Amino acid sequence: MKGVILHAGRGTRLRPLTDAGPKQLVPVANKPMSQYSLEALRDAGITEVAMVIDAAHRARICGHYGDGSGFGVSLTYVEQDCPRGISHAVGLCREFVGQDRFVACLGDNIMQEGLRPHADRFGSEAMVLLCPVPDPWRFGVAELDGGGAVRRITEKPQNPASNLAVIGVYFLSPSIFDVIGSLEPSDRGELEITDALQGVLDSGGLEHRLVGGWWKDAGTRRDVIEANGLALGAGARVGRSRVSPDSALRGPVLVGDGCTVESSELGPNVSVGDGCTIRNCALSDSVVMPGCELESGRVRGSIIGTGSRVRGDCADAVLAEGSGAGARAAPPR
Ligand code: DAU
Repeated sequence: MKGVILHAGRGTRLRPLTDAGPKQLVPVANKPMSQYSLEALRDAGITEVAMVIDAAHRARICGHYGDGSGFGVSLTYVEQDCPRGISHAVGLCREFVGQDRFVACLGDNIMQEGLRPHADRFGSEAMVLLCPVPDPWRFGVAELDGGGAVRRITEKPQNPASNLAVIGVYFLSPSIFDVIGSLEPSDRGELEITDALQGVLDSGGLEHRLVGGWWKDAGTRRDVIEANGLALGAGARVGRSRVSPDSALRGPVLVGDGCTVESSELGPNVSVGDGCTIRNCALSDSVVMPGCELESGRVRGSIIGTGSRVRGDCADAVLAEGSGAGARAAPPR
């Protein structure tokens, strides 16, 4: 079995952070979110992986993943000229996939449980994983019939027929490429994965399984912060960093290496990347990327881009990389 990770798209919901790099490299618990997919594939024994990328972000993505050997996989990069849809991105991997079955993972999805139990049960043309969610209208939604089989899959329905989201981990066979080839763009101009899956469903080849554990689509600020809290787990972890005795860490908290934390309260749900300096601050529900300096403020509900300098308060904001000292936090778009 092979793996495909979708690492392109525009990441508009995480601007201005995503002006400089792809959203899939935004860290969740100090690890790029797409690395969760890569490691899940590897841990399921899937070591031949293609990554669909936007050429504009090639340097950063390759800078992190290289040829994949550092992560125990062999990586092939496939460029997508612009975001024409998930089915389009999968379709670009036809040559890479060849005659093998494969798992396509959205690079902004994080799943608590591993892929292996699902991969072991995959025996049909395609298999989707479903997760009950409180806000199904944000996702592809599966409607089940009385016997528990999937009757229909709809992309972001206004009136969802169930609370079962189709998560961004798709078990597929090469036959999907012909289905994708027959698709027309949706109203939003994309080749939808849900339309391809409906095609397989119509020909009787789709099965489904429920995910155990949590699952997050980390596409928005709020989602990244929630995913961060979930991925952090319990307690406080501190790398090779200095935390002054008058500071307090309320888990879940993760502080990377080479940081200085003085007279500050961190947590809950806070991750701090390597090389950050935090003085006289109170941080909660936030992701602080590496190399930031935070001073004298309350930071909550925010993602602070790499190398930013923040003085004073910052609430519910996404800060671009290198935001300057004293910069006012821009409201999320
Ligand atoms: O998260 C699960 C949901 O993901 C599913 O329930 C939906 O059915 C599916 O359409 C998708 O919805 P999103 O609106 O969240 O998709 P998004 O545009 O955020 O793209 C998901 C990932 O795929 C993201 O990592 C970017 C990548 N992508 C997306 C498109 C449209 C590409 O690599 N190329 C593309 O053309």
